[in-house]
Amino acid sequence: MKRIFFDNSATTPLDPEVLAVMTEVMAKNFGNPSSIHAEGRQARALIEAARKTVANALNCSIGEIFFTSGGTEANNMALKNSVRDLGVTRIISSPLEHHCVLHSLQTIAASGEAAVEMVRINELGNVCLDDLRRLLATGDQKTLVSLMHANNEIGNLLPLEEVAAICEAAGALFHCDTVQTMGYYPLDLAATRVNFLAGSAHKFYGPKGVGFIYVNNDNIIKPYLDGGAQERNMRGGTENIYGIVGLAKAVEKAVAERAERAATVQKLKNHFHAKLQEKYPQVAFNGDVTGGHYKVLSVSFPESPKGDLLLMNLDLNGISASGGSACSSGIDVGSHVIGHLHPDSKRHTIRFSFSHHNTEEEVNYVVDKLAGML
Ligand SMILES: Cc1ncc(COP(=O)(O)O)c(C=O)c1O
Repeated sequence: MKRIFFDNSATTPLDPEVLAVMTEVMAKNFGNPSSIHAEGRQARALIEAARKTVANALNCSIGEIFFTSGGTEANNMALKNSVRDLGVTRIISSPLEHHCVLHSLQTIAASGEAAVEMVRINELGNVCLDDLRRLLATGDQKTLVSLMHANNEIGNLLPLEEVAAICEAAGALFHCDTVQTMGYYPLDLAATRVNFLAGSAHKFYGPKGVGFIYVNNDNIIKPYLDGGAQERNMRGGTENIYGIVGLAKAVEKAVAERAERAATVQKLKNHFHAKLQEKYPQVAFNGDVTGGHYKVLSVSFPESPKGDLLLMNLDLNGISASGGSACSSGIDVGSHVIGHLHPDSKRHTIRFSFSHHNTEEEVNYVVDKLAGML
């Protein structure tokens, strides 16, 4: 049975060109980038070229990009190092952040080193900017604002430039989890003042287990992992050279093909949205459908005896989607995002997320198949 993959917010398939550059490096470049002989120098050159690609894509300097094991590590680093190294004693965030942010905040709050405050979220799931301004106007503690660019479950987008300006005006640091938007939306860091950003290769057709953090040059933080002097002394450990090279190739392609991919994916989402509304009037949608990320549609199905089996029935019919966030163990404990927006609802949420590899025929197939599952 042909499978239909509509879970591209959880991860994306590896691009064949990315795989090709990675396998070539695996076959030919075994040098340790810290070695000073020829093999080491070749490996080092590959990493530095990758750093340049990422820096060019964001219009920042190469010294501001540090490779990590993914988005989780980058988010942990931004939050925990701000408290440890920059004297941050208050963090303002939102209840809809990814668990790697929320759980880091719990750890920080439990340590007593910084207070955590949550900004208000409106009915649609958007951050209330007036509430952010209000919070920033109170207190005189050194503050970090940590808000995600696009929500991984409902797709809502943060007005990043506006939030950056609000933080700058209030003298607060700003960290943005851009894991769901890196490669999908342009970002010019020379024009927008952000202190930290997190990115993860597997969300834009690169390999898993590799990502990066952008750390603005003004923020001098200490190593996150103690060890050797790798990553300009910021993260000890021999670099994941294949992953880093793959990440850079994926960034390069995402930037070059951005407009074309975005148009294809937006069309698929619009088509799916329209077809569902036409065929299933009982269906509703979570989040900001028209203003949100063009790759995500969070669909709310009415309570029904078959509702609990929806995800499984889709899977049995060759359709991969997600019951909310699929970023952890696969055990469905209910989504904190949907729970926050609709606390008493017994409806069933399925997140469908698209890629430029999907087709309108696939969308039509899924719409038809749903008939027997509701
Ligand atoms: C918004 C967001 N932040 C962070 C992460 C974690 O990234 P990684 O899987 O690279 O650790 C994810 C997904 O997994 C995500 O969707």
